[in-house]
Amino acid sequence: MSDRASVEVRTATLDDRAAVAALRRAWTEENAGATIDDPTFLARFDEWLAREHDQRVTWLGLVGGAPVAMLNLLVFTRMPAPRPPGSTRATQWGYLANFYVRPEQRDVGIGTAMLGACTAYADEHGFARIVLSPTTGSVPLYARHGFAPATSLMVRQP
Ligand SMILES: CC(C)(COP(=O)(O)OP(=O)(O)OC[C@H]1O[C@@H](n2cnc3c(N)ncnc32)[C@H](O)[C@@H]1OP(=O)(O)O)[C@@H](O)C(=O)NCCC(=O)NCCS
Repeated sequence: MSDRASVEVRTATLDDRAAVAALRRAWTEENAGATIDDPTFLARFDEWLAREHDQRVTWLGLVGGAPVAMLNLLVFTRMPAPRPPGSTRATQWGYLANFYVRPEQRDVGIGTAMLGACTAYADEHGFARIVLSPTTGSVPLYARHGFAPATSLMVRQP
């Protein structure tokens, strides 16, 4: 468990890529219940990040300076449309993804702080909405931050 006062939430830069990759590995291995020996992972991760980083905002949660949590927001920018003079329309919305806190640091509020940083960013930037696909256990956490089941989306499964 961590002392809430020592938790820092900040946006990540490209210099944090090793920390983000390590958290991605930790989450995947937690789900698998085993270490995964994949020598291609870091190269694939770096390729992905090079393509994606311009359109994602990533947050890291740190305890005592060590990264223990991550979350990112994929930012969709809407196609501009003609609009009457003086009218405004939100130009962006976001998909919240890759939200993870290391197991030994859970249930002390780090996820709450990360989600608060993300929703504050979306509000400050006038996002039309944030969309996400929750795991079962995380539904109450999202509900406390204003997320509700959507009836306005359709999903096609392969
Ligand atoms: C979801 C998660 C990021 C929350 O982080 P956290 O630091 O524990 O969050 P907080 O301490 O601020 O809040 C605790 C809340 O997290 C949720 N939670 C607790 N355990 C969880 C788990 N194993 N998986 C998902 N959510 C969980 C609950 O809503 C809990 O609140 P509640 O007990 O009142 O219902 C963290 O549990 C996690 O990394 N889970 C595994 C990955 C995951 O499910 N990510 C969400 C993808 S949509």
